[in-house]
Amino acid sequence: MSELISKIKTKSAVEISNDATEHKLTTIEGWVKTRRDSKNVTFIEVSDGTSLKGLQVVVPAEKVSSGDIPDSTMSKIATGASVVCKGYLVESTGNNQSIELSAEQIEVLGEAPADYPLQKKRHTLEYLREVAHLRARTNTIGAVMRVRSTMAFAVHKFFQENGFYYVNTPLITSSDAEGAGEMFQVTTLNLSNPPKTEDGRVDYSKDFFGRKTSLTVSGQLEGETYATALKNIYTFGPTFRAENSNTKRHLAEFWMIEPEMAFCNLEGDMKIAESFLKYIFSYTLENCGEDMEFFSSFVEKGVRDTIEHVIKTPFAHLTYTEAISELKKVADKFDFKPYWGADIQTEHERFLSEEVCKSPVIVTDYPKEIKSFYMMLNKDGKTVRGMDVLVPRLGEIIGGSEREWRLDILRSRMAELKLKESDYWWYLELRKFGSVPHAGFGLGFERAVQYVTGMQNIRDVIPYPRAVGSAEF
Ligand code: 4AD
Ligand code: MG
Repeated sequence: MSELISKIKTKSAVEISNDATEHKLTTIEGWVKTRRDSKNVTFIEVSDGTSLKGLQVVVPAEKVSSGDIPDSTMSKIATGASVVCKGYLVESTGNNQSIELSAEQIEVLGEAPADYPLQKKRHTLEYLREVAHLRARTNTIGAVMRVRSTMAFAVHKFFQENGFYYVNTPLITSSDAEGAGEMFQVTTLNLSNPPKTEDGRVDYSKDFFGRKTSLTVSGQLEGETYATALKNIYTFGPTFRAENSNTKRHLAEFWMIEPEMAFCNLEGDMKIAESFLKYIFSYTLENCGEDMEFFSSFVEKGVRDTIEHVIKTPFAHLTYTEAISELKKVADKFDFKPYWGADIQTEHERFLSEEVCKSPVIVTDYPKEIKSFYMMLNKDGKTVRGMDVLVPRLGEIIGGSEREWRLDILRSRMAELKLKESDYWWYLELRKFGSVPHAGFGLGFERAVQYVTGMQNIRDVIPYPRAVGSAEF
Protein backbone atom coordinates (compact mmCIF):
# COMPACT_ATOMS: atom_id res chain seq x y z
CA MET A 1 0.00 0.00 0.00
CA SER A 2 2.89 2.37 0.68
CA GLU A 3 3.77 2.17 -3.04
CA LEU A 4 0.22 3.03 -3.96
CA ILE A 5 0.18 5.89 -1.48
CA SER A 6 3.42 7.34 -2.80
CA LYS A 7 2.10 7.04 -6.34
CA ILE A 8 -0.95 8.94 -5.16
CA LYS A 9 1.34 11.55 -3.66
CA THR A 10 3.43 11.98 -6.79
CA LYS A 11 0.59 11.92 -9.28
CA SER A 12 -2.17 14.44 -9.25
CA ALA A 13 -5.68 13.36 -8.37
CA VAL A 14 -6.70 14.01 -11.97
CA GLU A 15 -3.97 11.73 -13.35
CA ILE A 16 -5.03 9.00 -10.96
CA SER A 17 -8.68 9.25 -11.90
CA ASN A 18 -7.62 9.15 -15.55
CA ASP A 19 -6.09 5.78 -14.71
CA ALA A 20 -9.46 4.90 -13.27
CA THR A 21 -11.28 5.83 -16.43
CA GLU A 22 -9.01 3.36 -18.19
CA HIS A 23 -10.78 0.89 -15.95
CA LYS A 24 -7.78 -0.54 -14.22
CA LEU A 25 -9.02 -2.39 -11.20
CA THR A 26 -6.83 -1.78 -8.17
CA THR A 27 -6.59 -4.35 -5.38
CA ILE A 28 -5.68 -3.45 -1.83
CA GLU A 29 -5.28 -5.74 1.16
CA GLY A 30 -5.19 -4.69 4.76
CA TRP A 31 -6.96 -4.33 8.09
CA VAL A 32 -9.98 -2.17 8.72
CA LYS A 33 -9.10 0.76 10.92
CA THR A 34 -12.49 2.42 11.02
CA ARG A 35 -15.87 2.12 9.44
CA ARG A 36 -18.37 4.90 9.10
CA ASP A 37 -21.85 4.48 7.63
CA SER A 38 -24.00 7.20 6.18
CA LYS A 39 -27.24 6.94 4.26
CA ASN A 40 -25.87 6.38 0.78
CA VAL A 41 -22.36 5.26 1.39
CA THR A 42 -20.04 3.40 3.76
CA PHE A 43 -16.49 4.65 4.35
CA ILE A 44 -13.87 2.14 5.39
CA GLU A 45 -10.32 3.11 6.25
CA VAL A 46 -8.02 0.24 5.33
CA SER A 47 -4.34 0.05 6.26
CA ASP A 48 -1.74 -2.62 5.59
CA GLY A 49 0.88 -1.12 7.89
CA THR A 50 3.34 -0.25 5.16
CA SER A 51 2.72 3.42 5.74
CA LEU A 52 1.08 5.60 8.34
CA LYS A 53 -1.83 6.57 6.19
CA GLY A 54 -4.25 3.98 4.94
CA LEU A 55 -6.62 4.29 2.03
CA GLN A 56 -10.26 5.25 2.23
CA VAL A 57 -12.50 2.67 0.60
CA VAL A 58 -15.94 3.87 -0.37
CA VAL A 59 -18.88 1.50 -0.75
CA PRO A 60 -21.82 3.16 -2.47
CA ALA A 61 -25.20 1.89 -1.19
CA GLU A 62 -26.18 0.68 -4.68
CA LYS A 63 -23.24 -1.80 -4.67
CA VAL A 64 -24.83 -3.35 -1.64
CA SER A 65 -28.44 -3.24 -2.86
CA SER A 66 -27.37 -4.72 -6.22
CA GLY A 67 -25.72 -7.60 -4.38
CA ASP A 68 -22.21 -6.93 -5.81
CA ILE A 69 -21.04 -6.48 -2.23
CA PRO A 70 -23.57 -8.52 -0.27
CA ASP A 71 -24.98 -7.58 3.11
CA SER A 72 -23.39 -10.72 4.54
CA THR A 73 -19.97 -9.24 3.66
CA MET A 74 -20.80 -5.74 4.84
CA SER A 75 -21.87 -7.05 8.22
CA LYS A 76 -18.40 -8.54 8.78
CA ILE A 77 -16.54 -5.31 8.06
CA ALA A 78 -15.52 -4.04 11.48
CA THR A 79 -12.42 -2.51 13.04
CA GLY A 80 -9.63 -5.09 12.95
CA ALA A 81 -11.05 -7.32 10.20
CA SER A 82 -8.75 -8.21 7.30
CA VAL A 83 -10.08 -7.42 3.85
CA VAL A 84 -9.25 -7.54 0.16
CA CYS A 85 -10.87 -4.66 -1.73
CA LYS A 86 -11.03 -4.29 -5.48
CA GLY A 87 -12.13 -1.07 -7.06
CA TYR A 88 -11.21 2.10 -8.91
CA LEU A 89 -9.09 4.92 -7.60
CA VAL A 90 -11.09 8.10 -7.88
CA GLU A 91 -10.71 11.69 -6.82
CA SER A 92 -12.08 12.08 -3.32
CA THR A 93 -14.55 14.74 -2.31
CA GLY A 94 -13.52 14.39 1.33
CA ASN A 95 -11.03 16.67 3.07
CA ASN A 96 -8.62 14.08 4.41
CA GLN A 97 -7.45 12.50 1.19
CA SER A 98 -7.15 13.35 -2.48
CA ILE A 99 -7.85 9.83 -3.69
CA GLU A 100 -10.06 7.03 -2.51
CA LEU A 101 -10.96 3.57 -3.70
CA SER A 102 -14.47 3.17 -5.02
CA ALA A 103 -15.19 -0.47 -4.19
CA GLU A 104 -16.45 -3.01 -6.72
CA GLN A 105 -15.79 -6.12 -4.64
CA ILE A 106 -14.80 -6.78 -1.06
CA GLU A 107 -13.73 -10.04 0.52
CA VAL A 108 -13.42 -10.36 4.30
CA LEU A 109 -10.54 -12.76 5.01
CA GLY A 110 -10.66 -12.72 8.79
CA GLU A 111 -13.35 -11.21 10.96
CA ALA A 112 -12.61 -9.26 14.13
CA PRO A 113 -15.37 -9.67 16.71
CA ALA A 114 -16.38 -6.89 19.09
CA ASP A 115 -13.78 -7.95 21.67
CA TYR A 116 -10.94 -6.86 19.34
CA PRO A 117 -8.67 -5.02 21.79
CA LEU A 118 -7.89 -2.08 19.50
CA GLN A 119 -11.30 -0.54 18.99
CA LYS A 120 -11.29 2.94 17.53
CA LYS A 121 -10.36 5.17 20.46
CA ARG A 122 -7.21 6.45 22.05
CA HIS A 123 -5.40 3.72 23.98
CA THR A 124 -2.67 4.40 26.49
CA LEU A 125 0.79 3.04 25.73
CA GLU A 126 0.60 1.13 29.02
CA TYR A 127 -2.53 -0.64 27.81
CA LEU A 128 -0.93 -1.36 24.44
CA ARG A 129 1.97 -3.15 26.18
CA GLU A 130 -0.61 -5.65 27.46
CA VAL A 131 -1.59 -6.42 23.87
CA ALA A 132 1.92 -6.30 22.42
CA HIS A 133 0.95 -8.98 19.89
CA LEU A 134 -1.48 -6.53 18.29
CA ARG A 135 -0.07 -3.12 19.13
CA ALA A 136 1.97 -2.76 15.92
CA ARG A 137 -1.39 -2.22 14.21
CA THR A 138 -1.75 1.14 15.93
CA ASN A 139 -0.49 4.34 14.33
CA THR A 140 2.10 5.02 17.02
CA ILE A 141 3.69 1.59 17.38
CA GLY A 142 3.46 0.98 13.63
CA ALA A 143 5.39 4.21 13.02
CA VAL A 144 7.97 3.32 15.69
CA MET A 145 8.62 -0.07 14.13
CA ARG A 146 8.99 1.33 10.62
CA VAL A 147 11.47 3.89 11.94
CA ARG A 148 13.29 1.17 13.90
CA SER A 149 13.70 -0.91 10.75
CA THR A 150 15.00 2.06 8.77
CA MET A 151 17.47 2.94 11.53
CA ALA A 152 18.78 -0.64 11.61
CA PHE A 153 19.37 -0.42 7.88
CA ALA A 154 21.14 2.92 8.31
CA VAL A 155 23.45 1.37 10.92
CA HIS A 156 24.61 -1.31 8.50
CA LYS A 157 24.82 1.19 5.64
CA PHE A 158 27.06 3.54 7.61
CA PHE A 159 29.53 0.85 8.62
CA GLN A 160 29.51 -1.05 5.36
CA GLU A 161 30.19 2.14 3.43
CA ASN A 162 33.04 3.07 5.75
CA GLY A 163 35.06 -0.13 5.60
CA PHE A 164 33.80 -1.90 8.73
CA TYR A 165 33.19 -5.64 8.75
CA TYR A 166 30.09 -7.00 10.46
CA VAL A 167 31.01 -9.56 13.13
CA ASN A 168 28.60 -11.77 15.04
CA THR A 169 29.80 -12.21 18.58
CA PRO A 170 28.44 -14.99 20.82
CA LEU A 171 25.33 -14.56 22.92
CA ILE A 172 26.24 -17.32 25.35
CA THR A 173 29.51 -16.55 27.05
CA SER A 174 31.68 -17.48 29.99
CA SER A 175 33.19 -14.00 30.51
CA ASP A 176 31.60 -10.89 31.96
CA ALA A 177 32.47 -8.17 29.43
CA GLU A 178 31.64 -5.29 31.75
CA GLY A 179 32.86 -6.99 34.91
CA ALA A 180 29.71 -5.76 36.64
CA GLY A 181 28.16 -9.13 37.46
CA GLU A 182 24.78 -8.28 35.92
CA MET A 183 24.42 -11.48 33.94
CA PHE A 184 21.63 -13.97 33.30
CA GLN A 185 22.89 -17.46 33.86
CA VAL A 186 22.39 -20.12 31.17
CA THR A 187 22.15 -23.65 32.50
CA THR A 188 20.61 -27.04 31.84
CA LEU A 189 21.30 -28.24 35.39
CA ASN A 190 18.39 -29.45 37.44
CA LEU A 191 17.81 -26.41 39.63
CA SER A 192 15.99 -28.28 42.36
CA ASN A 193 18.84 -30.78 42.73
CA PRO A 194 22.04 -29.54 41.07
CA PRO A 195 25.22 -31.66 41.16
CA LYS A 196 27.59 -30.53 43.93
CA THR A 197 31.35 -30.53 44.35
CA GLU A 198 32.96 -31.96 47.46
CA ASP A 199 32.95 -28.59 49.16
CA GLY A 200 29.20 -28.27 48.57
CA ARG A 201 29.17 -25.81 45.67
CA VAL A 202 27.27 -26.27 42.39
CA ASP A 203 29.41 -28.39 40.06
CA TYR A 204 29.35 -26.51 36.79
CA SER A 205 31.68 -29.03 35.17
CA LYS A 206 28.50 -31.11 34.87
CA ASP A 207 26.62 -28.27 33.17
CA PHE A 208 25.94 -28.22 29.41
CA PHE A 209 29.13 -26.37 28.49
CA GLY A 210 31.23 -27.90 31.24
CA ARG A 211 31.46 -24.52 32.93
CA LYS A 212 29.33 -21.67 34.21
CA THR A 213 27.86 -19.62 31.34
CA SER A 214 25.62 -16.59 30.92
CA LEU A 215 23.97 -14.41 28.29
CA THR A 216 26.32 -11.71 27.08
CA VAL A 217 26.18 -8.14 28.40
CA SER A 218 28.27 -6.88 25.47
CA GLY A 219 30.10 -8.28 22.46
CA GLN A 220 32.99 -5.89 23.00
CA LEU A 221 35.70 -8.27 24.20
CA GLU A 222 35.17 -10.65 21.29
CA GLY A 223 34.77 -7.60 19.04
CA GLU A 224 38.25 -6.47 20.09
CA THR A 225 39.70 -9.80 18.97
CA TYR A 226 38.25 -9.23 15.51
CA ALA A 227 39.28 -5.57 15.30
CA THR A 228 42.83 -6.63 16.00
CA ALA A 229 42.57 -8.86 12.93
CA LEU A 230 40.27 -7.04 10.46
CA LYS A 231 40.98 -3.47 11.66
CA ASN A 232 37.47 -2.02 11.74
CA ILE A 233 34.52 -4.13 12.78
CA TYR A 234 31.06 -3.69 14.24
CA THR A 235 28.56 -5.90 15.96
CA PHE A 236 24.80 -5.41 16.05
CA GLY A 237 22.99 -7.87 18.22
CA PRO A 238 21.02 -8.56 21.37
CA THR A 239 22.59 -8.03 24.79
CA PHE A 240 21.19 -8.94 28.18
CA ARG A 241 21.49 -7.26 31.55
CA ALA A 242 20.09 -8.43 34.82
CA GLU A 243 20.10 -4.87 36.17
CA ASN A 244 17.36 -4.32 38.65
CA SER A 245 16.46 -0.92 37.19
CA ASN A 246 12.85 -0.27 36.46
CA THR A 247 13.23 2.90 34.42
CA LYS A 248 12.06 4.39 31.14
CA ARG A 249 15.47 3.78 29.56
CA HIS A 250 16.50 0.31 30.73
CA LEU A 251 15.64 -3.08 29.30
CA ALA A 252 16.84 -6.50 30.37
CA GLU A 253 17.18 -7.44 26.68
CA PHE A 254 18.27 -4.73 24.28
CA TRP A 255 20.13 -4.43 21.01
CA MET A 256 23.55 -2.90 20.91
CA ILE A 257 25.78 -1.71 18.10
CA GLU A 258 29.45 -1.98 18.97
CA PRO A 259 32.10 -0.78 16.53
CA GLU A 260 35.74 -1.45 17.38
CA MET A 261 38.67 0.14 15.59
CA ALA A 262 42.32 -0.91 15.66
CA PHE A 263 44.98 1.82 15.46
CA CYS A 264 42.47 4.27 16.93
CA ASN A 265 42.50 6.41 20.07
CA LEU A 266 39.79 8.14 22.07
CA GLU A 267 39.75 11.18 19.77
CA GLY A 268 39.16 8.98 16.72
CA ASP A 269 36.52 7.05 18.62
CA MET A 270 34.59 10.22 19.46
CA LYS A 271 34.73 11.44 15.86
CA ILE A 272 33.29 8.18 14.57
CA ALA A 273 30.59 8.15 17.26
CA GLU A 274 29.50 11.66 16.30
CA SER A 275 29.44 11.08 12.56
CA PHE A 276 27.73 7.71 13.01
CA LEU A 277 24.91 9.19 15.11
CA LYS A 278 24.44 12.07 12.70
CA TYR A 279 24.38 9.70 9.75
CA ILE A 280 21.69 7.42 11.14
CA PHE A 281 19.62 10.41 12.26
CA SER A 282 19.70 12.08 8.86
CA TYR A 283 19.07 8.84 7.01
CA THR A 284 15.98 8.35 9.15
CA LEU A 285 14.70 11.90 8.61
CA GLU A 286 15.17 11.49 4.87
CA ASN A 287 13.49 8.11 4.66
CA CYS A 288 10.75 8.28 7.28
CA GLY A 289 9.28 11.67 6.48
CA GLU A 290 5.65 10.80 7.14
CA ASP A 291 6.32 8.92 10.38
CA MET A 292 8.66 11.66 11.65
CA GLU A 293 5.96 14.24 10.94
CA PHE A 294 3.62 12.15 13.06
CA PHE A 295 6.07 11.94 15.99
CA SER A 296 6.73 15.64 15.77
CA SER A 297 3.04 16.48 15.92
CA PHE A 298 1.63 13.87 18.28
CA VAL A 299 4.38 12.26 20.32
CA GLU A 300 7.08 14.81 21.14
CA LYS A 301 6.35 18.27 19.80
CA GLY A 302 9.06 19.40 17.41
CA VAL A 303 11.22 16.28 17.70
CA ARG A 304 11.97 16.43 14.00
CA ASP A 305 13.47 19.93 14.32
CA THR A 306 15.43 18.86 17.38
CA ILE A 307 17.03 16.01 15.45
CA GLU A 308 17.73 18.30 12.52
CA HIS A 309 19.43 20.73 14.88
CA VAL A 310 21.53 17.92 16.40
CA ILE A 311 22.68 16.89 12.92
CA LYS A 312 23.92 20.42 12.21
CA THR A 313 25.54 21.18 15.57
CA PRO A 314 29.00 19.95 16.60
CA PHE A 315 28.79 17.91 19.81
CA ALA A 316 30.12 19.61 22.96
CA HIS A 317 32.99 18.14 24.98
CA LEU A 318 33.58 18.13 28.74
CA THR A 319 35.89 16.13 30.91
CA TYR A 320 34.30 14.37 33.85
CA THR A 321 36.09 16.80 36.18
CA GLU A 322 34.63 19.80 34.31
CA ALA A 323 31.21 18.15 34.30
CA ILE A 324 31.30 17.67 38.07
CA SER A 325 32.24 21.29 38.66
CA GLU A 326 29.32 22.41 36.45
CA LEU A 327 26.97 20.15 38.41
CA LYS A 328 28.27 21.33 41.77
CA LYS A 329 27.32 24.92 40.90
CA VAL A 330 23.66 23.88 40.97
CA ALA A 331 23.86 20.94 43.38
CA ASP A 332 20.54 21.91 45.00
CA LYS A 333 18.69 20.94 41.84
CA PHE A 334 19.55 17.28 42.18
CA ASP A 335 18.38 14.32 44.23
CA PHE A 336 21.89 12.85 44.03
CA LYS A 337 24.49 15.40 45.12
CA PRO A 338 27.36 15.50 42.65
CA TYR A 339 30.95 15.09 43.89
CA TRP A 340 34.21 14.03 42.26
CA GLY A 341 34.27 10.25 42.22
CA ALA A 342 30.52 9.72 42.08
CA ASP A 343 28.77 8.27 39.07
CA ILE A 344 26.95 10.76 36.87
CA GLN A 345 23.22 10.09 37.31
CA THR A 346 20.53 10.42 34.64
CA GLU A 347 19.37 13.75 36.11
CA HIS A 348 22.96 15.05 35.84
CA GLU A 349 23.38 13.73 32.32
CA ARG A 350 20.24 15.51 31.24
CA PHE A 351 21.26 18.74 32.92
CA LEU A 352 24.66 18.72 31.22
CA SER A 353 23.21 18.24 27.75
CA GLU A 354 19.97 20.21 28.16
CA GLU A 355 21.15 23.18 30.22
CA VAL A 356 24.94 23.42 30.18
CA CYS A 357 25.66 22.51 26.56
CA LYS A 358 22.20 22.70 24.95
CA SER A 359 23.34 19.94 22.61
CA PRO A 360 24.68 16.41 22.77
CA VAL A 361 27.83 16.39 24.88
CA ILE A 362 30.66 13.89 25.13
CA VAL A 363 32.00 13.48 28.65
CA THR A 364 35.48 11.94 28.92
CA ASP A 365 38.12 10.90 31.44
CA TYR A 366 36.05 9.38 34.22
CA PRO A 367 37.49 8.15 37.52
CA LYS A 368 38.66 4.58 37.01
CA GLU A 369 36.55 3.37 39.95
CA ILE A 370 33.26 4.01 38.15
CA LYS A 371 34.21 2.54 34.77
CA SER A 372 35.02 -0.91 33.43
CA PHE A 373 38.37 -2.66 33.83
CA TYR A 374 39.30 -2.50 30.14
CA MET A 375 39.45 1.29 29.78
CA MET A 376 42.87 2.81 29.21
CA LEU A 377 44.38 4.41 32.28
CA ASN A 378 45.43 8.06 31.94
CA LYS A 379 48.86 9.27 33.07
CA ASP A 380 47.33 10.68 36.27
CA GLY A 381 46.66 7.08 37.35
CA LYS A 382 43.17 8.16 38.49
CA THR A 383 41.08 8.59 35.38
CA VAL A 384 40.44 6.48 32.29
CA ARG A 385 40.01 7.24 28.61
CA GLY A 386 36.31 6.53 28.59
CA MET A 387 33.60 8.61 26.94
CA ASP A 388 29.84 8.80 27.19
CA VAL A 389 27.66 10.62 24.68
CA LEU A 390 24.81 12.33 26.53
CA VAL A 391 21.78 13.71 24.74
CA PRO A 392 18.97 15.98 25.93
CA ARG A 393 15.82 14.24 27.23
CA LEU A 394 17.51 10.83 27.52
CA GLY A 395 21.01 11.16 28.97
CA GLU A 396 23.53 8.47 28.00
CA ILE A 397 23.04 7.07 24.52
CA ILE A 398 26.60 5.84 23.83
CA GLY A 399 29.34 4.52 26.09
CA GLY A 400 32.82 3.84 24.80
CA SER A 401 36.55 4.09 25.42
CA GLU A 402 40.09 3.68 24.28
CA ARG A 403 41.06 0.22 25.47
CA GLU A 404 43.94 -0.58 27.80
CA TRP A 405 46.33 -2.21 25.35
CA ARG A 406 49.36 -2.44 27.71
CA LEU A 407 49.47 -5.93 29.17
CA ASP A 408 51.06 -5.07 32.51
CA ILE A 409 48.64 -2.25 33.27
CA LEU A 410 45.62 -4.29 32.23
CA ARG A 411 46.73 -7.13 34.50
CA SER A 412 47.17 -4.85 37.46
CA ARG A 413 43.73 -3.26 36.86
CA MET A 414 42.17 -6.70 36.77
CA ALA A 415 43.94 -7.66 39.96
CA GLU A 416 42.65 -4.49 41.67
CA LEU A 417 39.13 -5.43 40.64
CA LYS A 418 39.61 -9.07 41.62
CA LEU A 419 38.84 -10.33 38.12
CA LYS A 420 40.30 -13.78 37.48
CA GLU A 421 42.91 -13.81 34.71
CA SER A 422 41.93 -17.35 33.82
CA ASP A 423 38.47 -16.10 32.75
CA TYR A 424 40.03 -13.56 30.40
CA TRP A 425 43.20 -15.37 29.21
CA TRP A 426 42.40 -14.92 25.53
CA TYR A 427 41.63 -11.22 26.04
CA LEU A 428 45.01 -10.78 27.70
CA GLU A 429 46.73 -12.55 24.81
CA LEU A 430 45.61 -9.75 22.47
CA ARG A 431 47.95 -7.57 24.53
CA LYS A 432 50.70 -10.16 24.35
CA PHE A 433 50.68 -10.75 20.60
CA GLY A 434 50.85 -7.69 18.36
CA SER A 435 49.01 -5.33 20.66
CA VAL A 436 47.83 -2.03 19.17
CA PRO A 437 45.99 1.02 20.44
CA HIS A 438 42.31 0.48 19.77
CA ALA A 439 38.98 1.96 20.72
CA GLY A 440 35.28 1.47 20.31
CA PHE A 441 31.87 2.25 21.67
CA GLY A 442 28.39 0.85 22.17
CA LEU A 443 25.16 2.49 21.06
CA GLY A 444 22.00 1.21 22.72
CA PHE A 445 19.79 0.75 19.68
CA GLU A 446 16.52 1.27 21.58
CA ARG A 447 17.85 4.49 23.11
CA ALA A 448 18.61 5.71 19.60
CA VAL A 449 15.10 4.83 18.43
CA GLN A 450 13.67 6.49 21.53
CA TYR A 451 15.65 9.62 20.88
CA VAL A 452 14.64 9.95 17.24
CA THR A 453 10.95 9.19 17.75
CA GLY A 454 10.55 11.10 21.01
CA MET A 455 8.94 8.07 22.65
CA GLN A 456 9.03 8.42 26.43
CA ASN A 457 9.42 4.80 27.40
CA ILE A 458 11.99 2.39 26.00
CA ARG A 459 9.44 -0.43 26.30
CA ASP A 460 7.51 1.06 23.41
CA VAL A 461 10.35 0.99 20.88
CA ILE A 462 11.11 -2.75 20.95
CA PRO A 463 8.50 -5.30 19.82
CA TYR A 464 8.49 -7.37 23.02
CA PRO A 465 10.12 -5.57 25.95
CA ARG A 466 11.83 -7.59 28.66
CA ALA A 467 12.26 -5.86 32.00
CA VAL A 468 12.24 -6.76 35.68
CA GLY A 469 9.11 -8.80 36.34
CA SER A 470 7.97 -8.71 32.74
CA ALA A 471 8.56 -11.26 29.99
CA GLU A 472 5.07 -11.89 28.60
CA PHE A 473 4.82 -13.08 24.98
O1 4AD B 1 27.78 1.92 28.52
P1 4AD B 1 27.62 0.46 28.23
O2 4AD B 1 27.39 -0.45 29.36
O3 4AD B 1 28.92 0.06 27.42
C1 4AD B 1 29.24 -1.19 26.99
O4 4AD B 1 28.55 -2.18 27.06
C2 4AD B 1 30.55 -1.23 26.23
N1 4AD B 1 30.97 -2.62 26.16
C3 4AD B 1 30.37 -0.60 24.89
C4 4AD B 1 31.64 -0.58 24.08
O5 4AD B 1 32.51 0.20 24.38
N2 4AD B 1 31.73 -1.42 23.07
O6 4AD B 1 26.44 0.26 27.20
C5 4AD B 1 26.46 0.91 25.95
C6 4AD B 1 25.12 1.53 25.65
C7 4AD B 1 24.68 2.58 26.65
O7 4AD B 1 25.25 3.83 26.38
C8 4AD B 1 23.18 2.57 26.44
O8 4AD B 1 22.82 3.31 25.30
C9 4AD B 1 22.90 1.11 26.15
O9 4AD B 1 24.10 0.54 25.70
N3 4AD B 1 22.42 0.39 27.34
C10 4AD B 1 21.15 0.02 27.53
N4 4AD B 1 20.06 0.19 26.79
C11 4AD B 1 18.90 -0.30 27.26
N5 4AD B 1 18.78 -0.97 28.42
C12 4AD B 1 19.86 -1.18 29.21
N6 4AD B 1 19.75 -1.85 30.34
C13 4AD B 1 21.12 -0.66 28.78
N7 4AD B 1 22.37 -0.69 29.28
C14 4AD B 1 23.15 -0.04 28.39
MG1 MG C 1 27.61 3.22 30.09
